[in-house]
Amino acid sequence: MSKYQVHFSNLGLKVPVEKGTSLLTAAWLAGVNLRSECNGKGICGKCRVLIHEFKDTGHKSSNHKFFVEEELRQGWRLACEIEIDCDLKVTVPKASRDMGAVIRKSYTHREIELKPFVRRFYLDLPPFEAHHGTGMWEQCAAILRHKYKMEEPVISPTAMIRLSNLAGRNVPPLEAFVSQNQQVICIRRKKDRPMLGLAVDIGTTSLAAYLGDLDNNRILAADSVLNPQVVYGGDVLSRISLIQERPEMLAFLQQSVLQAVNGLIVNMTESVGANPDDIVDVTVVGNTTMHHLFLGLNPEALGKYPFIPTIKTAQYVRSSLLGLNVNPGAHIYMFPVFSAYVGADTIGVRIAEQFHEQEIMKLIMDIGTNGELVLGSNNRSFCTSVATGPAFEGAQIKFGMRAAPGAIEKLSIDPKTLDVEYTVIPSPGEKETNTRRPVGICGSGIFSAVAELLKAGIIMENGAFDKSKKHARIRQEKGSKKYEFVLAFSEQSGLDADITICQDDVRAVQLGKSALLAGAQILMQHAGIEEPDEIILAGAFGSYIDIDDAITIGLVPHCPRGKIYAVGNAAGDGARMALFNWDFREKAQRFEEETEFIALSGTDKFQDVLVKAMKFPRYAYL
Ligand code: FES
Repeated sequence: MSKYQVHFSNLGLKVPVEKGTSLLTAAWLAGVNLRSECNGKGICGKCRVLIHEFKDTGHKSSNHKFFVEEELRQGWRLACEIEIDCDLKVTVPKASRDMGAVIRKSYTHREIELKPFVRRFYLDLPPFEAHHGTGMWEQCAAILRHKYKMEEPVISPTAMIRLSNLAGRNVPPLEAFVSQNQQVICIRRKKDRPMLGLAVDIGTTSLAAYLGDLDNNRILAADSVLNPQVVYGGDVLSRISLIQERPEMLAFLQQSVLQAVNGLIVNMTESVGANPDDIVDVTVVGNTTMHHLFLGLNPEALGKYPFIPTIKTAQYVRSSLLGLNVNPGAHIYMFPVFSAYVGADTIGVRIAEQFHEQEIMKLIMDIGTNGELVLGSNNRSFCTSVATGPAFEGAQIKFGMRAAPGAIEKLSIDPKTLDVEYTVIPSPGEKETNTRRPVGICGSGIFSAVAELLKAGIIMENGAFDKSKKHARIRQEKGSKKYEFVLAFSEQSGLDADITICQDDVRAVQLGKSALLAGAQILMQHAGIEEPDEIILAGAFGSYIDIDDAITIGLVPHCPRGKIYAVGNAAGDGARMALFNWDFREKAQRFEEETEFIALSGTDKFQDVLVKAMKFPRYAYL
């Protein structure tokens, strides 16, 4: 097949691609962080590029929607709508490049009994004259058996190699790191260094890692970074499609995330004066696609019916097999997953929320572009997943963007004057958030806007604008009969345009919230309850939504206001708990086995409940 060269000239990047590859895919392959909130569907209009010496072979309708004739003549196009059939030279303007999501790495301190999977034992070998012909390992094993009462210690190949480097006449005092199944994962010279563990939460958008001191039951460092796979697609489906199109990208995506985690390991160990070799245990959570990509498993089956994961049960994987920069004998504990769309991250939240100890019925709503729902108590539970659509992360929203600097994250509308006040996400190091000019609106801001439009009576219960309301901020969209509301006029915004929320934006939120509510209601029917005792909002988006906004728009089923909580990175909390106390690993496996998955998509029952859930509540129970 013919190969063409695409040159992203203002970024100095070149990539060879096959005929027919989309320009958006070419940008991803070249490592260009091109915005693509709708993942190449031609809807969001964010992937604008200028193609030099463009041969006009006609342009698709979406291009007409986002460009005026003069721009089209100059060569402006949506990258996702261009199929490459010649060499191209392309400029990617700043506005089309991803500014990076705001990464939150905070964690909740939870009291956990210390019971690590790996323990350290000190070994003083006798002088070589007393060896009586035995090998070094046999002497170590004898000490482990007699002094530490182990029945059958076994040595791993990596520990054996390290031991061979210590063999000689005068063996120094040693320390052995032994896992609960009595496998010796490392023997090294006794050092005055901490025994460390690493908990990792692989999110679709960001990675968070925590360095724990396994001797003293405390977190020493936490760090996070944008998931480098983001440039290959904003959500899991676009990454799965990329691998379907180009199978060789699987190894590339796996390596990109492993390198990012290795970078976090170096940063954190350096910050506390430790060494990656001190990390002897690792736990990992993530949604099912992130889980598969981390392990290098082909995720294609997750993207098509009947949506089967390659493996659901928890696994211990040798760190050296993946190239993780920790002690080469360490094992990586991969949490189990429920299904293709209810992943290890949700099991992590269940661990953190201590389902196993409580009789009350808790509902976890883990909200991102996919909604993962779990309802249960200590003796029964149900789970499901629903597609919420990309609106929650700012995609398919006219002025939507990721939670990045410049995004409106919260706002209020005065019901009398319709004046708008908003807070804007600052750049790192910037403090004031109400003086920065907004350039768009992120997921939590969109919810806030819809809730405020409802409270001010600008939109009605069915989501339509109330046309009887007259105000300078309420108007018809240019070239359309549909209505919109101006959040920031151009003189207050960081764009050369008014920032608005339009009828289609409200509809997108309505669709997402109704899918979540309907999913929760069906789980409640299965459990035979009218309402949950508690609701936990979690996940990339759920953690940051304002609870009052969630109630106002009817995102959550009825529940006492004081019993609805937004938790921080609860999936990461679960990973940390399983790091400090390995009993939680058994509990995670039991959750996976005992939780009933309720399939919803395409069922008549779900459609019925979904239609009813579309309406916004008339009176919110605040
Ligand atoms: S319009 Fe091209 S990625 Fe959205």
